[in-house]
Amino acid sequence: MDDLTAARFRIYALQDGAVRAQALAFALTIGLFDRLEREALSREAIGEAFGLAPRVLPALLSFLASNGLIERTADGRFANTPASSAFLVRSSARYAGGRGLLFQGFYEAIAHLPESLASGRPWTPEGQHDMFSGFSPEQQRWFAEGMYANAVHGGRSLAEVVDFSQFQRLLDVGGNSGGYAIALARANPRLRATIFDLEPVRELAMERVAAAGLTDRINFAVGSFFESELPRGHDVVLLSSILHDWDDDDCMAILGRCYRGIEPGGTIVVAEPMLAEEATGPDHPAASGLTMVLLGGENRTRTRIAEMLGHAGFTRPWVSELLPQNSVVSAVRPW
Ligand SMILES: C[S@@+](CC[C@H](N)C(=O)[O-])C[C@H]1O[C@@H](n2cnc3c(N)ncnc32)[C@H](O)[C@@H]1O
Repeated sequence: MDDLTAARFRIYALQDGAVRAQALAFALTIGLFDRLEREALSREAIGEAFGLAPRVLPALLSFLASNGLIERTADGRFANTPASSAFLVRSSARYAGGRGLLFQGFYEAIAHLPESLASGRPWTPEGQHDMFSGFSPEQQRWFAEGMYANAVHGGRSLAEVVDFSQFQRLLDVGGNSGGYAIALARANPRLRATIFDLEPVRELAMERVAAAGLTDRINFAVGSFFESELPRGHDVVLLSSILHDWDDDDCMAILGRCYRGIEPGGTIVVAEPMLAEEATGPDHPAASGLTMVLLGGENRTRTRIAEMLGHAGFTRPWVSELLPQNSVVSAVRPW
């Protein structure tokens, strides 16, 4: 296939994106990859196990196979590939499937993206203020699962970029169910952490912390970063995928609380998808930036984040290279 033809099929894939996302979410929801991890199954056995009609099986299996998510064995059964075993089986330490379920929860919102792009406004009047206050317990759970799936990978890459062994007490602001706090505590045995988030998140976080065996090192503080001061006594504050949820004024309110809350000499670390200065990518931060357009936030450049930290009073900004998932900007509260 020549380059231009290949480009045409990439355009088709973008146009079919909604169908692809829903089909993958369906396969995850019925537990197809979990089942295939135990044993390879014939097409008929998959139909029987999940009650799927013969009419739908060829399309579903072909879609998953052509995307490298299942493969046909020599005896004609279907098995997981190394990619699905690593990222789509729930019991895998690298499970990333929760992201797909998270996006399924945004479907109603996604239909409004053209309006948000045209108007520059989020799809609900108050953007993320509406979203976080409007979550049902079930939505809170799928959101947490999606965030955790992201954090499993984000936490590891953050630990490679920033040396957290130089810190004693981490405050993970908007830390959700603790994906980052857990990853960083595991990588740094002397680090203690506080997750700061809204009340409905507490139980989900403490479940995860207990499952990780870290209740002696990670605790949870309830509060809103728009209404309460942050818990004191921390020498490092993490804002992971927080600033990109909010407009500039809200960001400055959050950064003001971080500045007041952190110990003098302490470090603030911002980790989230960031865009190239020249608006040329990367792909994941760009796509996530479109979601932020819809929800009321913005994926910013590293320079812009460093500027905002400066306006809040932080000094000595440091920026990571531009990374495919989250880039990092840190700065210090002067003594
Ligand atoms: C996009 S998630 C990021 C979660 C986590 N930091 C991560 O990177 O996986 C945003 C988090 O901010 C929390 N949040 C939203 N509004 C908040 C508020 N007013 N005060 C404290 N946390 C808030 C949400 O509950 C959610 O956990």
